[in-house]
Amino acid sequence: AEPDLERLFEHTIERDQRIEPRDWLPEGYRKTMIRQIAQHAHSEIIGMQPEGNWITRAPSLRRKAILLAKVQDEAGHGLYLYSAAETLGADRADLTEKLISGRQKYSSIFNYPTLTFADVGVIGWLVDGAAICNQVPLCRSSYGPYARAMIRICKEESFHQRQGYELLMTMMRGTEAQRAMVQDAVNRWWWPSLMMFGPPDAESPNTAQSMAWKVKRHTNDELRQRFVDMSVPQAKALGVTLPDPELKWNEERQHHNFGPIDWDEFKQILKGNGPCNAQRIAHRRKAHEDGAWVREAAAAYAAKQEGRA
Ligand code: ACO
Repeated sequence: AEPDLERLFEHTIERDQRIEPRDWLPEGYRKTMIRQIAQHAHSEIIGMQPEGNWITRAPSLRRKAILLAKVQDEAGHGLYLYSAAETLGADRADLTEKLISGRQKYSSIFNYPTLTFADVGVIGWLVDGAAICNQVPLCRSSYGPYARAMIRICKEESFHQRQGYELLMTMMRGTEAQRAMVQDAVNRWWWPSLMMFGPPDAESPNTAQSMAWKVKRHTNDELRQRFVDMSVPQAKALGVTLPDPELKWNEERQHHNFGPIDWDEFKQILKGNGPCNAQRIAHRRKAHEDGAWVREAAAAYAAKQEGRA
């Protein structure tokens, strides 16, 4: 009975094997997985907006085709993730309702505006770079459907990052005004990218349990540090400055030191008070409402087919 099932669950985690939908799992684990996967799915879908903003104004056909493909990939990521959440018994319509009523979170990063086309490049480089840094270890997450979705997502995410970096390289070879545009975008996105990794470990309520369950493989601060170390040489190769006067190599730690993060700004965003929170949710709500007739037609068609059978 239950104690045996619980032992089997723990044993599976200990041996680094995957928990699958058919397996017994503790309610807390189910809740944690639904919470994280839903937030992640919502982030992919809301994340289509900041860059989608530039599709009609991309500077060339080539850039437009790339951007369209990228934004479509994000929709696909959202779909894999909602499907993974469904394997845990979550209801897709219910998750969407929770998103548009503000009861479930999505990543803080998507509440900032995209002011110039350089933002498209910087989102690819820094935001997708941070996402990869956070998501590669999730390919080894203990929940099978999530880990497998993550493998595919990471492959596409690394294409996104490269397109961003290549876009920025091109702009940096351009005019003085273009270089200034890139630097301005870097200045605006650097700190929010560091916030993507979540609160500092000491203030992260979920990390300890998620590490014990091997849902998370590294803490928020570990991954943030990895991202900073990764980004410094990339910024140098690009020829931009990261907007942190305290950013400096620490020989003893073999890591870069960096300045304090404005956690008040992060908290305000999580409360819904960021520059674009209201706009993002309103847009998502409208898209959902505009799609009502499609859902109704699909349901009516399915009912009719069932009646025939
Ligand atoms: N934006 C919004 N909310 C956040 C963020 C963030 N950047 N970071 C942490 N939070 C939330 C957590 O979801 C949690 O909220 P909840 O308890 O109400 O659900 C709260 O802040 C406390 O944080 P933690 O205890 O550290 O939460 P957790 O252990 O879940 O770690 C993390 C947060 C690292 C984001 C983790 O959930 C994760 O790895 N998620 C998968 C990756 C992901 O969602 N990426 C989305 C952005 S990337 C992209 O889509 C391109």
